Amino acid sequence: MSATRTRGILDAVGNTPCVELRHVIPDRCARVFIKLEGLNPTGSYKDRMAKSVIEEAERRGDLKPGMTVVEATGGSTGSFAFICSIKGYEFLVVSSDAFAEEKLKTMSAFGATVDIVHSPSGKITPELIPSMRQRAKELSQGESFYYADQFSNPDVPVGYEELGRELLEQIPEGIDGFCGAVGGAGMVMGVAKILKQNLPNCKIAVLEPASAPVLTKGYGGLHSVEGIGIGFLPPLLKKELYDDALAIEESEGRAMARRLAKEEGILAGTSTGLNVVAAIQLAKQFGPGKTVATVACDTGLKYVRGDLYTEP
Ligand SMILES: Cc1ncc(COP(=O)(O)O)c(C=O)c1O
Repeated sequence: MSATRTRGILDAVGNTPCVELRHVIPDRCARVFIKLEGLNPTGSYKDRMAKSVIEEAERRGDLKPGMTVVEATGGSTGSFAFICSIKGYEFLVVSSDAFAEEKLKTMSAFGATVDIVHSPSGKITPELIPSMRQRAKELSQGESFYYADQFSNPDVPVGYEELGRELLEQIPEGIDGFCGAVGGAGMVMGVAKILKQNLPNCKIAVLEPASAPVLTKGYGGLHSVEGIGIGFLPPLLKKELYDDALAIEESEGRAMARRLAKEEGILAGTSTGLNVVAAIQLAKQFGPGKTVATVACDTGLKYVRGDLYTEP
C-alpha cells in the first residue's frame, strides 16, 4: 500500500482504512468490515461533515471571510474548530459539561470560543441538545454569523457520501448490510444514499441506545453514549434510506468497545461499540458468505479519562 502525500491537512480528511474484524465475530456469521474513522485529523468522522458544511456554504456565498461560524455540539464537532482554524474563521461553539473534557479542550486548542450549557445530572438528557441548539441560534443572530446547524443542514450527509464510495471501492465483493448509530443521522444517510444507489439490496440499519428509544419507540431517555441518541427525531433521517431501526443496550456497546481494544487492537468510543454489536446481529442474520460494514466513529483516546475502559 502506498502512503498518501497531501497539499495540506484538509486533503487528509477521509480515505480511511477498512479493516475486517477477526476476533469478536462469532462462527457462522457474515464477514464484518469497519472503517477506521478515528484516523481522520481530529480523530472523528465528523471532519468529513465539517469540511462539507463549510465548503458548501463558501461555494454558495453564505459564508465569507471575517464571519464567525456558530454550532452546538457534543464535542466531536471539534471538527468545525479544526476546519475553521485552517480557513481563518472564528468559531463559537455551544457545548456541555455532559461531554468528555478532552473534546471541549480540543476545540479550545483549535482556537474556538466554548460556551457551556450545564447538565445538572452530567448525563445527555432529552432536553440537553435542544437547549444547546437554542443557545447557538440566539448567539448566531446577525449578518456576521453563520449557524452551521448540523442537525438540519443538508450539506451534512453530502460530506459522508465519500465514505460510502470508499466502502464500495474497499469492499468490491459487495455489501449486504450496513449499520450505524444515529445522532444527527448525517453519516448513515450519506453512506446509505451511495450504497442504495449502487447496491439496491443492501440493508441499512440505524441504531440508538436502548435507554433512549426515540426511533424504535418514540420517546427519549437518559444515556451516556456521546454523539448519538439526541432526544428527538433527527430532521436529516429519511425513511426511504433505511430498512430497520435497532435499539442496542449501552452496556453491550461499552463491553464491545473494550473487546475491540483488547482483541482487535481498535481503540474507539462507545458509539462504535454499539455499531459493532449491531453489525454482529446483522452478520448472524445474513450468515456465512455475506458481508456487513460499519464504522469506528472516532478514536477511543477521547474517552480514556472516563470509565469506558476501566469498567469490569
Ligand atoms: C462519537 C460519535 N458517534 C456517532 C455520532 C453520530 O453521527 P451522526 O450525527 O452523523 O448521526 C456522532 C455525532 O456527533 C459522534 O460524535
